[in-house]
Amino acid sequence: MFRRWFQRHRAKSETNNGHYRHGNQTLIDLRRVVKTYESAAGTFTALTEVDLQVDPGEFVAVVGKSGSGKSTLINMIAGIDRPTAGEVLVGDTAVHTLNEGQIAKWRGRHLGVVFQFFQLLPTLTVVENIMLPMDFCHMYPSDEREERAMHLLEQVEMADHAHKLPTAISGGQQQRVAIARALANDPPVLLADEPTGNLDSQTADSVFQLFENLVEHGKTILMVTHDQDLTKRVTRAITVADGQIVDEQRRDAVGDELLLELDKRETKWQVVGLVRTTMSGPRMYVNYPYFARVIHNVGQASSVQIVTERHDFAATAEVAKALETHFEQIGLKVSAIETIAGERERIETVFNIIVGFLSIMAILLAVVGGLGLMGTMSINVLERIREIGVIRAIGASDGAVQQIVIVEGVLIGCLSWLVGVLIALPVSMLLSNVVGELILQDALTYTFSVSGALLWLGIVVLLATLASFLPARSASRLTVREVLAYE
Ligand SMILES: Nc1ncnc2c1ncn2[C@@H]1O[C@H](COP(=O)(O)OP(=O)(O)OP(=O)(O)O)[C@@H](O)[C@H]1O
Ligand SMILES: [Mg+2]
Repeated sequence: MFRRWFQRHRAKSETNNGHYRHGNQTLIDLRRVVKTYESAAGTFTALTEVDLQVDPGEFVAVVGKSGSGKSTLINMIAGIDRPTAGEVLVGDTAVHTLNEGQIAKWRGRHLGVVFQFFQLLPTLTVVENIMLPMDFCHMYPSDEREERAMHLLEQVEMADHAHKLPTAISGGQQQRVAIARALANDPPVLLADEPTGNLDSQTADSVFQLFENLVEHGKTILMVTHDQDLTKRVTRAITVADGQIVDEQRRDAVGDELLLELDKRETKWQVVGLVRTTMSGPRMYVNYPYFARVIHNVGQASSVQIVTERHDFAATAEVAKALETHFEQIGLKVSAIETIAGERERIETVFNIIVGFLSIMAILLAVVGGLGLMGTMSINVLERIREIGVIRAIGASDGAVQQIVIVEGVLIGCLSWLVGVLIALPVSMLLSNVVGELILQDALTYTFSVSGALLWLGIVVLLATLASFLPARSASRLTVREVLAYE
């Protein structure tokens, strides 16, 4: 008892009655946090001297096996549970020094907590659930609370359900409402213990997107999760095992320092911004004066970009030629000249190769399809030998029998053309996006060529006619007697 009093007293004196002045940027700071539970079986250590610093704007995923101490860790920060030893500092507050009532008041204003099982009050409507934290903390005047609650519901796309009871909405919707409730007093930090644990993967993804959105708008989020896919999308993933942080995976963030090897020397860079690109791989924008110093190129430019008024091939080539002559006259060696028209030509060549390749594929597929159709029609003729015999018996001429088989073959061909066009539409749209991203880092303009599709239809009709010709001929040669012999 004396020791506990002494510990608390000492902590208080260091932190000036719950207030703590931190000289750094850290928003959440756990210092050598220990949590032990006493039980009949003895003492159980759930957290062993955990140190964790989280900066504002981070999105941290906490992962680890069941029983490893994830919830205990989150509960330390939320003040839901108290550390046996160590310090828990959040913003300007030394959480471990506050008493229960002070913690509750502080939590209401500074933290939003989201639970796995949503924990909405079942007798209150959705909008009333969200107004509740505002009623408790008096952060917003009472006449503004409902409007704010509605605004938050709009943010989580639940405004249409504002006056329903929680039991009348789905799990994913309840979690959205719970997130809106956690945002009620506009806290800088959100803590969530397996918020997607009780949701199907699609709903979980939409809840996660909501979190990503909040981080983009400046919130700091710590989230316990079992979903490995989600941990790839956060700024940092920490792994807890046996009450300790055993691994930490960080995505580069603004302000981070990177060590890169340039010119066989290790050089230090600071991340000043992140560029989101799709598929074109990592790309780095750097400070040129620093870069020039690193590569011993100060005061020199390795390339010059000139914008001309006209962009046609002749005009740009002329300017390029004139510049090259000029540079050579003043004693500068030009190693390469690129013009926008030249670049366009290069890209066109790449596209022509792609189109050529796809055309060869299409022709091969058409030939294979034609052979397949010939086989199908032959089997068709064999299967329907009795039917052919009957129409022959009732007076169908050779030509009529042939015509029936060929028309059928062409119809099948046309059907396959239609199915092909329907599949090709979305696939080619997707392909033009992907190829565009790969080559130009931009989606290509997509156009559907009606004449191309009609030309293809013509080819299909021709191929189908040719493919049906042999089966049609053998059908027309069948005699009624032969047909009866089959039976
Ligand atoms: N009140 C308590 N009394 C005794 N032991 C406890 C108490 N709370 C938690 N523990 C123990 O502490 C350990 C860590 O528990 P915690 O709830 O943090 O695990 P977790 O990583 O969140 O697990 P899960 O993924 O299953 O939620 C567990 O072994 C648990 O049994
Ligand atoms: Mg847990």
